[in-house]
Amino acid sequence: ETKPRTPVIWVNGLECTCCSESFIRGAHPLAKDVVLSMISLDYSHVLMAAAGHAAEAALAEAMETHKGNYILAVEGNPPLNEDGMFCIVGGRPFVEKLKEAAAGAKAVIAWGACASYGCVQAAKPNPTQATPIHKVITDKPIIKIPGCPPIAEVMTGVITYMLTFDRLPELDRQGRPAMFYGQRIHDKCYRRPHFDAGQFVEAWDDDNARKGYCLYKMGCKGPTTYNACSTIGWNEGISFPIQSGHGCIGCSEDGFWDQGGFYDRL
Ligand code: SF4
Ligand code: SF4
Ligand code: F3S
Repeated sequence: ETKPRTPVIWVNGLECTCCSESFIRGAHPLAKDVVLSMISLDYSHVLMAAAGHAAEAALAEAMETHKGNYILAVEGNPPLNEDGMFCIVGGRPFVEKLKEAAAGAKAVIAWGACASYGCVQAAKPNPTQATPIHKVITDKPIIKIPGCPPIAEVMTGVITYMLTFDRLPELDRQGRPAMFYGQRIHDKCYRRPHFDAGQFVEAWDDDNARKGYCLYKMGCKGPTTYNACSTIGWNEGISFPIQSGHGCIGCSEDGFWDQGGFYDRL
């Protein structure tokens, strides 16, 4: 109770804000417990009460006060074309804000496909030159939490691990926490017995779809996608895309969008 809470600065570039939306639905631990009891969320223009100049002043103060000690959480990415003018936050290009905030951080979290890999705004022809953050921040440890968005409990779980052990979780060679991204969706998918038995859905409304057969022939990317959806699930484990009848579209993989996760079979 007496230990100071770890300061977190959460910045947003080119994004859709659904990584924040996912985070606030975290149930284990509850997002409210993370924000109110575990960390000191010193800046998040989505979740903070302040806006405009007051918010930017809070950011400057947090960066100065906690230099070298805060975690920088990044949602979205910086567009580099035309000196970053395609994403202006607080009156200046986001890329400047990102570099400045990263300079004083002890570690950086890349939330979601946008920050980790680029996502839709980096899809070809990428007119704004939207760029994943590891290409801009090159001198800090970056932990990637891909997904579009990431699972809420993966987000709160990673923060909990970092606060509990005061270190980064074990990362794979792409910089993702192995505990959440160590297996493919396909490895733990409850439809896997149908895959192994050669029982496949052949059309969205066919009899095999009603029987819950494997969605591989409908373009499911589960065999090449590393994420925890088939183990942790979404919405407190109630379901995940495949359980609701649609194949995985590989939202947590590098190249999501350009690799054709969306209906490339049709
Ligand atoms: Fe939105 Fe997906 Fe980007 Fe998260 S990764 S901000 S959910 S587009
Ligand atoms: Fe694998 Fe997808 Fe079939 Fe599940 S539905 S068994 S993830 S191919
Ligand atoms: Fe994304 Fe596939 Fe999970 S589309 S949400 S990684 S099942």
